[in-house]
Amino acid sequence: MKQVFLFFITMFSVVLILSACSTENSTNVNSETDNNSEVSNDNEASSDPIVVGFSQIGAESGWRTAETESIKETLENDPQFELKFSDAQQKQENQIKALRSFIAQQVDIIALAPVVESGWETVLTEAKEAGIPVILLDRRIEVEDESLYTSFIGSDFILEGENAAKELINLIGEEVETNIVELQGTVGASAANDRMEGFANIISKNEKYNIIKSQTGEFTRSKGKEVMEAFLKSDGENIDAVYAHNDDMALGAIQAIEEYGLKPGQDIKIVSVDGISDIFEAVIAGKANIIVECNPLLGPQLAQAAKDLMEGKEIERWIKTEETVFVGSEEAEAALPDRKY
Ligand code: AHR
Repeated sequence: MKQVFLFFITMFSVVLILSACSTENSTNVNSETDNNSEVSNDNEASSDPIVVGFSQIGAESGWRTAETESIKETLENDPQFELKFSDAQQKQENQIKALRSFIAQQVDIIALAPVVESGWETVLTEAKEAGIPVILLDRRIEVEDESLYTSFIGSDFILEGENAAKELINLIGEEVETNIVELQGTVGASAANDRMEGFANIISKNEKYNIIKSQTGEFTRSKGKEVMEAFLKSDGENIDAVYAHNDDMALGAIQAIEEYGLKPGQDIKIVSVDGISDIFEAVIAGKANIIVECNPLLGPQLAQAAKDLMEGKEIERWIKTEETVFVGSEEAEAALPDRKY
């Protein structure tokens, strides 16, 4: 009788211990999802693909097309992933709709390249409440609650702006009076705000250098050309340099300068950010001078981050991309054969 009693006591204890373990496990998963830095590792055990919903801004530039291709190529060729892609055509409202649709479809991870910095709180709170981690791609957002996104994969735009200014001053000379016109990216985008800030940080320290005009060219070639035409009309021969927040606008500006009758790269120096092949060609042809690289090939980093998250690992808050600067035709010529975008 004593043995039977002992057997039941032992079994009861085992059941108690097991149920305590399982409660502990689910508490962990919930608290991980709460701080939005890790998720349940259900996918590890099953063969279900990791479903990633990617909300892309649009196709305004060569850089962005390269980013889209990198993400599609990486995730669509890896059987561990299923990609749901949405093109917002430059509209934040379309991105918010896409995010809501991803939430309704219960994707595992949301990747968001946010067109502008502000206005994301509500929809990201919905994602958080649904337990879906959000990875920001290439541009940042401004939110009070930093736990609304898990990680940011991309460049240091302030540093890019600072590098653009430093290289321009190196090229022209510290003591030379220089009037600069600036072609800004999309209004409200972190890529525009930070590149403007970084450039101004350096230029403001040199009395000889002045930004005489600054206006948005919306990151597109056609708008860059149009704005440069207006700058030339108002300031013509006074312009010594163009700082464009991306290559497409610089390429538009080059066209405008040629049509105006001046020589881009010589009469007016050109510095821009991105590093697409077309700007390398322009530098080699002597029509532009400085390329500040910004890497759009974020597919592999996104895939790694998504896998790590699904395995319950912590990922870096800022996954940085490696970048450099190219000055002059020799450097551009040497680099062009290896360029991937
Ligand atoms: O956010 C990155 C910027 O967006 C790129 O520099 C630009 O070309 C793009 O469209």
